[in-house]
Amino acid sequence: MTAPNGNGSAHSAATTAFDFAALTARERYKLLIGAVIPRPIALVTTVSKEGIANAAPFSFFNCLSADPAILALGVEYRPSGAQKDTGRNIRETLGFTVHIVSEAILAAMNVCAVPFEPGVDELHEAGLATAPGVKAPSPRIVAAPVAFECRLHTSLGIGNSREIILGEVVYAHFHADLVNSDNHHVDPVALDAIGRLGGHGYSLTREMFDLPTMSLAQWQAGSIPERVPHAPFVPAPPRR
Ligand SMILES: Cc1cc2nc3c(=O)[nH]c(=O)nc-3n(C[C@H](O)[C@H](O)[C@H](O)COP(=O)(O)O)c2cc1C
Repeated sequence: MTAPNGNGSAHSAATTAFDFAALTARERYKLLIGAVIPRPIALVTTVSKEGIANAAPFSFFNCLSADPAILALGVEYRPSGAQKDTGRNIRETLGFTVHIVSEAILAAMNVCAVPFEPGVDELHEAGLATAPGVKAPSPRIVAAPVAFECRLHTSLGIGNSREIILGEVVYAHFHADLVNSDNHHVDPVALDAIGRLGGHGYSLTREMFDLPTMSLAQWQAGSIPERVPHAPFVPAPPRR
């Protein structure tokens, strides 16, 4: 069994060190995306002020706050310095929809990553059916297991090559079989989320376990929890 302090790790203690000031942007990028894994993938829909829909995946993505409910996207500019359609559309229409990428929409997500000309509707190219947003101007991808409609909260310019976009979730759609509407538990097996690794790598979320967080009293008493099989999802009882 691996010791709780990590001494059971198979890695040697020797390190290869990098001074980030001495690296190129590309080198920093490769170290970061190779090590910060798996990253969740947001398939983001937006709409331009002319009303043209757009979709693109982002793995510089996470949930950073629950109150308010904030999702963050890291949107790079194109090598030419031009903004990506996603960033421009969000600034113009102040909303976007984040879809969690599951295996069911993986191939379509990859089509959405093609650098089409502005004005091309990736949703159409990928064959993704949509429904209108309820509170966001952007369409919702019907096949996505989860869709979060967001209102632009803050846009942070980072240097001259990227921006960090914070969106406040104002409405959410979950496929009915993967959420318990009584206790708000989400079934990670049914969600089947894809993770992004470095390079062109991806991972599945199909090997799960539970490891309870210890109270201070448990830690002090030496009561170290074992990891156990992931507790199965329990759907809400049918409503009468
Ligand atoms: C899995 C995946 C993750 C990506 N993550 C990002 C990201 O975090 N930031 C980014 O700027 N581009 C990311 N990209 C590239 C964009 O999806 C791509 O540039 C896209 O064409 C942008 O489209 P847009 O101009 O319609 O916004 C990613 C691509 C893939 C396939």
